[in-house]
Amino acid sequence: MGSRVWLVTGASGGLGQALVSEVLRAGERVIAVTRDDEPLQPLVAAFPGRLRTVSVDITDTGALRPVLDDAIAGAGRLDVVVNNAGYALPGPFEELDDTELRAQFEVNFFAAADVLRAALPHLRAAKAGRVLQISSPAGQIGALGMSGYTAGKHALEGLSVSLAAELAPLGIRTTIVEPGAARTAFRANWASRLSSSAALPDYLPVHEALARSAGAAGGQVGDPVRMARALVALAGMPSPPLRLPLGSDALAGIENALCAQLEELRRFAALSTSTDHTEAT
Ligand SMILES: NC(=O)c1ccc[n+]([C@@H]2O[C@H](COP(=O)([O-])OP(=O)(O)OC[C@H]3O[C@@H](n4cnc5c(N)ncnc54)[C@H](OP(=O)(O)O)[C@@H]3O)[C@@H](O)[C@H]2O)c1
Repeated sequence: MGSRVWLVTGASGGLGQALVSEVLRAGERVIAVTRDDEPLQPLVAAFPGRLRTVSVDITDTGALRPVLDDAIAGAGRLDVVVNNAGYALPGPFEELDDTELRAQFEVNFFAAADVLRAALPHLRAAKAGRVLQISSPAGQIGALGMSGYTAGKHALEGLSVSLAAELAPLGIRTTIVEPGAARTAFRANWASRLSSSAALPDYLPVHEALARSAGAAGGQVGDPVRMARALVALAGMPSPPLRLPLGSDALAGIENALCAQLEELRRFAALSTSTDHTEAT
């Protein structure tokens, strides 16, 4: 049957393309799902027969399933699924356009769910496999001016935590990956979506915070190639974690948020437990 086969979405650039490259270098095969496979052509040429590109809009549910079914059948097996495609919609919640908010969920949540629907029957049949869900620290913690993005990543993590419990007894391991800021087009892409002025003056501080963050592009600590290598290592671990932050910024941000959440949980424990029945049934 040959080497393991990975399926990676959002493969045309950034972390997705770095991952495709590292997987090929590791001697394995890839189905790269992308809207534009042009940037992948050098890798197709460099690794003959090991990289199959699939050009499709992952939000086109009707088109996605048959092309994924075809590609997996052509590869002969499927071992690792990586839901990586994603982007951020910036802006204070009250200023977000409803169509844009739903589009954010289509890419960051529903498309990932559709990819899983196509992939999981193959992993279940093999009683093995890995699911890597590329989330963000925003999948666990909030961020000023990023309610649409954090909501989508929280949804992806919620699905993934429950899915992990359903799949583990079937021999399939799931890891939620939470990259910190990485030097890809991600930040410039969301920065280009920023409106130049606050529609609601009350949210001027949120716009200013977003503009500061957008202006820090280029200084992200995360190296997408090193992140891709970590993902390859992760997919080879016999006992992978449920969650894996990538980058010192992701680790510190999540640790601080979890400590604060635990402290608050304990501080209000008396009120939380005050709602129990006072008599045993
Ligand atoms: N870079 C960061 O700072 C950072 C931090 C935390 C989490 N992440 C997460 O890491 C993942 C990869 O991001 P990246 O840093 O590699 O960013 P990127 O360079 O912008 O790449 C994201 C990929 O997602 C796909 N994509 C983006 N917008 C899309 C849309 N509207 N419809 C369909 N597909 C779309 C594109 O793939 P195709 O064009 O090939 O379809 C694109 O290459 C994302 O899920 C992101 O949320 C990134």
